[in-house]
Amino acid sequence: MRVIEEIQKTLRQGRSFHGEMLNFKKNGEKFWSLLRIAPVRDAKGVITHYVGIKTDSTLMRQRDLEIEEQREELLHVTRVGKLAEFVSSLAHEISQPLTAILAYAQAAQRLFAGREPQLQEILQYIVNDDQRASEVIRRLRALLKKSRPTLEALDINALINDTVSLIMTHITVRNKVIKFDLDSDLPSIQGDRIQLQQVLLNLISNSLEAMDERSDSRELSVRTFQKDKETIMVEVMDSGGGILAENMDKLFVHFFTSKADGLGMGLSISRSIIEAHGGRLEARNNPDNGATFYFSLPVDKKDAS
Ligand SMILES: Nc1ncnc2c1ncn2[C@@H]1O[C@H](COP(=O)(O)OP(=O)(O)O)[C@@H](O)[C@H]1O
Ligand SMILES: [Mg+2]
Repeated sequence: MRVIEEIQKTLRQGRSFHGEMLNFKKNGEKFWSLLRIAPVRDAKGVITHYVGIKTDSTLMRQRDLEIEEQREELLHVTRVGKLAEFVSSLAHEISQPLTAILAYAQAAQRLFAGREPQLQEILQYIVNDDQRASEVIRRLRALLKKSRPTLEALDINALINDTVSLIMTHITVRNKVIKFDLDSDLPSIQGDRIQLQQVLLNLISNSLEAMDERSDSRELSVRTFQKDKETIMVEVMDSGGGILAENMDKLFVHFFTSKADGLGMGLSISRSIIEAHGGRLEARNNPDNGATFYFSLPVDKKDAS
């Protein structure tokens, strides 16, 4: 029933009305008002007139909405926290059998030392891959561990190389290539290794995901250069679908995601890490196709001359 009809009916029955109404201002803006209308009777009990109070309840409504939103955010954070917990316990579970496999393979190597060259070769593969997997797990656990940022002088190019080697198989399996355009003459920066790795991993995995949508796009590139005496720039450029204009402002907002299974945490975390380092993280679309995410980092003062 429409509110007006409800009011009429209530008043006709001689009762007082109490309700909330959605109204529109001339400019189309919505506002809510709380309406109370009560009949006033004379000595004989006959209604002579009505009194009404109208209160703007828009603000109250907004507060309710905000509280609701905050509650949802909190739930989401808890879920993300749970996920991190789960991944780190999984990593722990996996590292134990990996250690055992390594020990068995090395025992077999000793047993067949100097004999069976083909078997030796296979055993060496097992050892190498096992060690690689263990390293990935070790770094994954380090990434998930919440530790306070520890600043040290870092060579950003070396950090990029280290980080990319972590996900190189991931890149090749997806049939993508990664190109480097790293300025070899860069001064060092002050930063937290793990946190900056996390930023790079976030940006690179977003790029890979953006390129998954287009089978014809294969190339991802990472570039470093010195912008001025105090600033180093890092750019991750992809050839994916690019960023929709309407999403441009929302990218770095907590939990914004355009993916069915996305968490929408990567960019907001990355931006806060970069800002804590005294830099900025931004995005732009490339002139042809794809997007570029780029961040600045201040040069280590000892290195700035
Ligand atoms: N390289 C990129 N190209 C196009 N869109 C991107 C790129 N990186 C991020 N985005 C957009 O930003 C959103 C937020 O990214 P992110 O915070 O990492 O969360 P998630 O990856 O879980 O969606 C993505 O859902 C996507 O819409
Ligand atoms: Mg992401």
